[in-house]
Amino acid sequence: MKKVLIVYYTQTGQAKQALDATLKPFEDNKNYQLDYLLVKPKNAFPYPWSYTQFFDAFPETVHGIPCELEPLSIDTSINYDLVVIVYQPWFLSICVPISSFYKLLKLNNY
Ligand SMILES: Cc1cc2nc3c(=O)[nH]c(=O)nc-3n(C[C@H](O)[C@H](O)[C@H](O)COP(=O)(O)O)c2cc1C
Repeated sequence: MKKVLIVYYTQTGQAKQALDATLKPFEDNKNYQLDYLLVKPKNAFPYPWSYTQFFDAFPETVHGIPCELEPLSIDTSINYDLVVIVYQPWFLSICVPISSFYKLLKLNNY
């Protein structure tokens, strides 16, 4: 069995809907185990956004300045075959929750 970890963030659920539609063939296939990890900022981003709140998120997003995240619940004993990271573009950059996840795990130069 192939084990897949899907790391994602979503505010309105749109990203999760797209994810579910994309991964449906794998959900229905017993050869795959899909585990999900929702990345949650400690202070949730507002929704709906006010004009000011929306543009106030611009510097942190574009400069990859991380926010604090809730503790990640990953079973580190599982040796995943594949990790899929799902994120939204914010201001043509990686959304803050996922860039914070990258930074936390030192996955790149974020
Ligand atoms: C602060 C902010 C900036 C965004 N910037 C972009 C963008 O540059 N390009 C784009 O296609 N969508 C942009 N979006 C839309 C998001 O990518 C995404 O589609 C939307 O937030 C819904 O995702 P979610 O509900 O799954 O989090 C932005 C959304 C937010 C909140």
